[in-house]
Amino acid sequence: MNESPSTPTSRREFLKNSGRLAAASALAGVALPHVHAAEDNTLQVALIGCGGRGSGAAIDALNTSKQGPIKLIAMADVFDAKLNGSYNAINKTHSSQVDVPPDRKFIGFDGYQKAMDCLKPGDIAIFTTPLAFRWVHFAYAIQKRLNVFMEKPLTADGPTSRRLIKLAEEASAKNLKAGVGLMSRHSRALQELHQRIQDGEIGDIILMRGYRMHGPVGSAFSTKWPGSPGELLWQIRNFHSFLWASGGCFSDFYIHIIDHLCWMKNAWPVSAQALGGRHYKTTADGSPYVDQNFDSYSVEYTFADGSKFLMDGRCNVGAKAMYFSHVQGSKGMAIASNNGDCGLPSSTYKGQNPDRANRLWVSDVPADQRNPYQNEWNSLVDAIRHDRPYNEVKRGVEASLVTSMGRKAAHTAQEITFKEMLNSEHEYAPGADKLTMDSPAFLKADANGRYPIPEPGLKKNSEY
Ligand SMILES: NC(=O)c1ccc[n+]([C@@H]2O[C@H](COP(=O)([O-])OP(=O)(O)OC[C@H]3O[C@@H](n4cnc5c(N)ncnc54)[C@H](O)[C@@H]3O)[C@@H](O)[C@H]2O)c1
Repeated sequence: MNESPSTPTSRREFLKNSGRLAAASALAGVALPHVHAAEDNTLQVALIGCGGRGSGAAIDALNTSKQGPIKLIAMADVFDAKLNGSYNAINKTHSSQVDVPPDRKFIGFDGYQKAMDCLKPGDIAIFTTPLAFRWVHFAYAIQKRLNVFMEKPLTADGPTSRRLIKLAEEASAKNLKAGVGLMSRHSRALQELHQRIQDGEIGDIILMRGYRMHGPVGSAFSTKWPGSPGELLWQIRNFHSFLWASGGCFSDFYIHIIDHLCWMKNAWPVSAQALGGRHYKTTADGSPYVDQNFDSYSVEYTFADGSKFLMDGRCNVGAKAMYFSHVQGSKGMAIASNNGDCGLPSSTYKGQNPDRANRLWVSDVPADQRNPYQNEWNSLVDAIRHDRPYNEVKRGVEASLVTSMGRKAAHTAQEITFKEMLNSEHEYAPGADKLTMDSPAFLKADANGRYPIPEPGLKKNSEY
């Protein structure tokens, strides 16, 4: 697309230029088309990927209306039912901010372009499809000079990570703002804990431990493709099952704890080695599972200073549930997430036992700031409205790479370094920008309906 060099990129610049134009036309006595004052600073939003999180993110966006008017004007998905379900859910609570007539609802792999074409420079596009499409959608948003919010994870492989880092630089050069859905970074409790750790409250970090262990959730386990919808669309619907779509359950589920613990350390690990496996290969009635996931993972990450971070993940019925994160220092320890990805409260302790008697601090977050999903949107929209630099994409790619490094270490049974993951050449969804509804799936089932799976130690260079 041709953009004139004078195309305004920021909301402030846009408003400044419209002000100048109004002044110039007043002097010249030329009538300008009437623009309602309230509409001047209305942010318009397009939602691309209308599932559970997309609907939530759109609502979080609309909830920033205290900062100024904001409305949803276009939606895109590959499933009609998903788009309409999302539209109904958002419209139910925010109807005065929803203006999406049928001709701004787009179904298909090119829907993202049509939805973004409805926006003006400086508006916001939300990317909440599975990760395979992040770079495709971000590249178009940059061409259209749009601010973006994109959900985690951002990448599952080396080539798209390198591509997204370049796109992030391009977005910053054009003064576009980009938020990434690693919401732990916007948890007020974790922000205060981070500061306390930097101030030495628990000494030097020696070990960190993250656990996300519960029963099967999402689409982590899939039985055979039933033949409809098409195989590509079915894999997209069951995206947690396929590494090309999501990085599998490891990337999709564990990235939050991996990201916030590395933040506490102010570093990304340099390498990972890991264990993992699959205990149950069939459903209770004997149907084979055909997804690419293990049901348990245990990763040992190593930082440049030699300190360690252990991440355990499990999706098993009946096994003990553990879902939290701890930081152990030379003087004491901290509970980062008490429960879930970044659940309140965070706290610090003398020594290594999190007993109440040893407690040094427990977070106390004001009620209106307890939701990190809302906090992340308040910050993004504030940066857009006040034209402050804001780009979380490089950090989001790095968190995605560290996650992929742990996953690949488990799937191959090899040590994987950060550099190897970043520079690896295997692209899991090549041509994700050229799909049509009839395109073949990235993974084709064999005669038994099975897909290639990790075989640790046998397949050493590739995850499947
Ligand atoms: N930050 C968080 O805590 C959090 C929570 C849930 C999900 N997520 C992330 O959000 C993303 C979506 O997850 P979800 O749970 O909402 O899944 P979902 O399946 O409910 O929604 C994804 C939607 O995207 C649509 N879609 C897929 N490919 C598309 C394409 N090329 N163009 C247009 N639409 C497309 C699907 O049809 C679906 O409606 C994932 O990356 C997930 O990791 C983040």
